[in-house]
Amino acid sequence: MMIMTENLTPSTTSRPTTTTRPATPRPAGRTIAVLGLGAMGTAIARALAAAGHQVVVWNRTARPLDELGVERDSAVSVADSPLAALDDADLVVVCVRDHTASRGVVEQLAPALADRVIVNVSTGTPAEAVASAARAAELGARYVTGAVMVPTPMVGTEQCFVIYAGSASDVGEVGALVDALGGTSDVVGDDHAVPPAVDLAMLDIYFAGMYAFLHATALAGAHGVEPGRFLPYAQGIVSTLGGTLPDLTASVETRSYDTGQARLDMCLAFLEKIVASSREVEIDPGLAELVRAASARAATRRPGSTDWDVVAEDFLPPAVG
Ligand SMILES: NC(=O)c1ccc[n+]([C@@H]2O[C@H](COP(=O)([O-])OP(=O)(O)OC[C@H]3O[C@@H](n4cnc5c(N)ncnc54)[C@H](OP(=O)(O)O)[C@@H]3O)[C@@H](O)[C@H]2O)c1
Repeated sequence: MMIMTENLTPSTTSRPTTTTRPATPRPAGRTIAVLGLGAMGTAIARALAAAGHQVVVWNRTARPLDELGVERDSAVSVADSPLAALDDADLVVVCVRDHTASRGVVEQLAPALADRVIVNVSTGTPAEAVASAARAAELGARYVTGAVMVPTPMVGTEQCFVIYAGSASDVGEVGALVDALGGTSDVVGDDHAVPPAVDLAMLDIYFAGMYAFLHATALAGAHGVEPGRFLPYAQGIVSTLGGTLPDLTASVETRSYDTGQARLDMCLAFLEKIVASSREVEIDPGLAELVRAASARAATRRPGSTDWDVVAEDFLPPAVG
């Protein structure tokens, strides 16, 4: 049952573009349920309303839409249960904290799930995403896994980036969402593990990079180089790193480490000095120590003239032959 009608003001009116689009034509003005009104669910609901859809929202903890900073209008209705939100919905978006929560929500939808199309954009591990998809299929739903790869201000703008997985026919039903979220969308096939795998792999780089930056800023700061003065140097090396990744990818793919561009023994010497200089000023050398240890392990197996890229072997299955 719907108990309230209000409007979610659009955060932007940017025209969306996508790199990969589901094939089915998208009728305008569909009715879409959004289950979960945290920061991301709210951003998604706003984007859908801005795109001209009727949006029915539900949140575990009842929240007046005014609290979410939205204005009154007729584009958005609030339902008092997940099941009630499904009444007139053509498409259901689940956006809650994690897959434990999303499975609880989906179970509540069970009586009305047959042939419904659900898009679950809640973050989980790849195994959780696969299990959630299997359970939704058991309940008769058509199910798409989504991973929103950007923070909420980018949702509904050209900077948005979302990865979707599901059968081609199911993904073909979510075009209204794809268009409303805007930016870039990647449809990666029917393996539900892939969106969270790529999402978490990107975050892996992001968090390691931020932690390395904080450590490096402290190391430079211990010698009187203020954070603002160090920043351009940090940005320079991050740019260099970006340029290095294609060669590193080629090394991983070919498992050959002989370009001579960055010798293992030279890199190990640098890493020893990063660790030593951290200790000199009593800064935790943890991350550098971890990389040094991986490099030292590689040096026990390969000549020092091998490319540092050989450290990749730690993450690869044993080579055949
Ligand atoms: N925020 C971002 O920038 C961002 C970016 C990419 C992906 N994501 C993903 O989007 C999802 C939602 O994120 P968010 O930022 O909206 O989180 P949030 O602001 O912390 O909101 C969490 C939402 O999950 C609901 N929830 C938690 N446990 C629940 C349960 N057991 N049953 C039903 N609902 C439950 C909460 O309801 P209550 O209000 O009742 O607590 C709330 O609506 C997460 O998986 C997150 O990783 C977020």
